[in-house]
Amino acid sequence: MRMRTKQDCGYTAAHKTLRQLLVLLACFAVVSPLFAQNLTGRWYLPGRTLDNGEQLFSILDLKQDGSNLTGKLESEGRTSDVTGTVSGDQFKLFASFNPNQPFITGELTDGQLHGTYRGRRPFTARPATAADKLPTIAYIAPPPLKKVPYNGLAKTPPMGWNSWNLFAGRVNEQLVKEIADAIVSSGMRDAGYIYVNIDDTWEGTRDADGNIRANKKFPDMKGLADYLHARGLKLGIYSSPGPRTCAGYPGSYGHEVQDAKTFASWGVDYLKYDWCSAGNIYKDSQLQAVYQKMGEALQSTGRPIVFSLCEYGRGEVQKWGPDVSGNLWRTTGDIRDSWDSMIGNLEKQVPTAPYAGPGHWNDPDMLEIGNGHMTDTEYRTHMSLWALSAAPLLAGNDLRNMSDDTKAILMNKEVIAVDQDPLGKQATPVREGNLETWVKPLADGSVAVGVVNFGSDTATATIPASELHLSGDVAHARNLWAHKDVQFQNGEYSADVPAHGTLMLRVSAK
Ligand code: GLA
Repeated sequence: MRMRTKQDCGYTAAHKTLRQLLVLLACFAVVSPLFAQNLTGRWYLPGRTLDNGEQLFSILDLKQDGSNLTGKLESEGRTSDVTGTVSGDQFKLFASFNPNQPFITGELTDGQLHGTYRGRRPFTARPATAADKLPTIAYIAPPPLKKVPYNGLAKTPPMGWNSWNLFAGRVNEQLVKEIADAIVSSGMRDAGYIYVNIDDTWEGTRDADGNIRANKKFPDMKGLADYLHARGLKLGIYSSPGPRTCAGYPGSYGHEVQDAKTFASWGVDYLKYDWCSAGNIYKDSQLQAVYQKMGEALQSTGRPIVFSLCEYGRGEVQKWGPDVSGNLWRTTGDIRDSWDSMIGNLEKQVPTAPYAGPGHWNDPDMLEIGNGHMTDTEYRTHMSLWALSAAPLLAGNDLRNMSDDTKAILMNKEVIAVDQDPLGKQATPVREGNLETWVKPLADGSVAVGVVNFGSDTATATIPASELHLSGDVAHARNLWAHKDVQFQNGEYSADVPAHGTLMLRVSAK
């Protein structure tokens, strides 16, 4: 919208009085909407409509001063400062949670803000009314710290499937049943993949007594648990210690004991508990107490429920995870189906290695194997590194449609045995560089070794027996991807490793 100047509608002495009046009226008609179109005011900014029917929204309280905007963005449980600029009828707004990228851009037309969130999702914001009220979230102090006893579960890293990496919000009862059938028919169950975990977006609303219900995508959670149990599988579910999950659904804040009871009554065997909006209420120094609350609530149900902490590695979780009866805890942000993301997550695990052991595992996030954006060679490295790291093996692909290569990777029993080794040690790198060597001690005195080729060409990897800290000379060595015995000669073994590939051996001493 162009700004008009006073000269555009000025008059000369030659004009008659009537014309003078008409011009002034016309001027007013043009200029007055410009005043109305100032962005100052409270705007109702709609968010996503959830599968439980709830409409998320924020209130944007803006003040325009010339071409500058200042104000606040209030969402449920969170207020952020915003700043921005106006140029003509176009505006850009930055929020304090990410000052480098505008969180919305748009234009003001017809008294409404039309634009996109982060350049992608379109929105129309209208002036807010007195009825547009965000719920107030009362602070609930977390309990004083105490040690929650070990629940006796996950003596080896949990294995199964999780809906999030591929399906995100497109998860429902039918899909979960089909995945369960595929786990059985593909041989995944017999290879150890037992947990079928529903991630975010299953949540409905709470009833009048505060009991959480599943939304329309999961009409019968108890029936679904029975379906899985009848097939030798287990059901996992997801919630947050905050009022909202990361996808905006109701979390367990203030309902921890009640939700734990509900999950137990449905027959749930595993809970992933995702920090999300708890970060708007609590500080990282309170993480342990907040997770302890759910740890105690789960134990008070009397049902064995694996407790998976999802807090992206915040607050040195590896140091207190076992004290809240956590069986696994995320050590990183979310994985993506790319080489850099996968390797980045794994490398962040290294300092946490001493804290892994039976019953409590570092979790570099779920598997992306079979999701299509890495090569099979890279997926073999993904599987090798997760197994060497004693990481939980939660497949994140469509198990109903797996290529033979994907099946061979996920169900490589010799590699799975390394992951599931009862000693529960996490590998550490013994040699860094373009060819990086990782070694994991195993319960029978042997070691698993992985040499990863980070370079862009095939390279020859050499494994000196002296780096393996075996109790004697090499007695037996086996290549776990080729499924072949190999020979150490003159105290070492060499083989070619393709770019982004991994040579993985199991080596035992005389
Ligand atoms: C977070 C978690 C993911 C997934 C999503 C769901 O980002 O880290 O693993 O659970 O939330 O909203």
